Amino acid sequence: MKRSIIVGNWKMYLASMADAHILATSVRNGIEGLRTEEIILCPPSIWLSEIAQIVGRGKIQLGAQNMFYECEGAFTGETSPEMIKEMGKYVIVGHSERRKFFGENDLDINEKTIAAVKAGLTPIVCVGENKKSEKISEPIDQLKKAISSLPKTSLSEIIVAYEPIWAITSKNAQNNAEPEYVAKVMTKLREYVHRDTPVIYGGSVKPGNIQEYAKRPEIDGVLVGSASVVAKDFIAICKSWAKIKNFK
Ligand code: PGA
Repeated sequence: MKRSIIVGNWKMYLASMADAHILATSVRNGIEGLRTEEIILCPPSIWLSEIAQIVGRGKIQLGAQNMFYECEGAFTGETSPEMIKEMGKYVIVGHSERRKFFGENDLDINEKTIAAVKAGLTPIVCVGENKKSEKISEPIDQLKKAISSLPKTSLSEIIVAYEPIWAITSKNAQNNAEPEYVAKVMTKLREYVHRDTPVIYGGSVKPGNIQEYAKRPEIDGVLVGSASVVAKDFIAICKSWAKIKNFK
């Protein structure tokens, strides 16, 4: 059966642990009884332990927004795959904001992808082109580099997130990519992974457009940024997805 995955990437949006507490509790309560397959929250790593207490062993899984690829050592400020594994099962790797603001390159992302799989984590590998264009060589190239040297047998253990950078919510814009366009790119991306590898979409996913993505069989889920820190919006996204996918 195809997986259905909804990821909430909280980025660095919330001001305090108290806010994080309220958000996680509201989401947990709001999706109670909902049978979407996988709902993954990615709070800032410093709050993972607190959020783990709130979501417990329920429906919600946890992930980190980033990690380092080394297992241990003198790496000030970094978090290892094993540390994350104690808190959750997933880790976002190669988000465009990591590439842009923290200088991560394809090699770093490749090392992180491999380290995550090795540690038993599921990396959510982000790829996406800078400018809206019909050329999809950029995300394909990023994906090929991210999974380079990863054993073929491990390809089903990753999630690919197609996140066109121009579609990500910014201060001035909300330009979600057309579901038809997303589906077209995803079909191409799939050629490089395992047939069971989930491919999800991220970029200005909101309660008002989630239905369009859920209706496309090529799209296995969504990675939600800004709308994931508004409890009612994130819950609405999960509910719409479940409704369209016919989860009872
Ligand atoms: P957005 O962010 O939903 O705010 O566009 C998506 C992402 O960057 O992961």
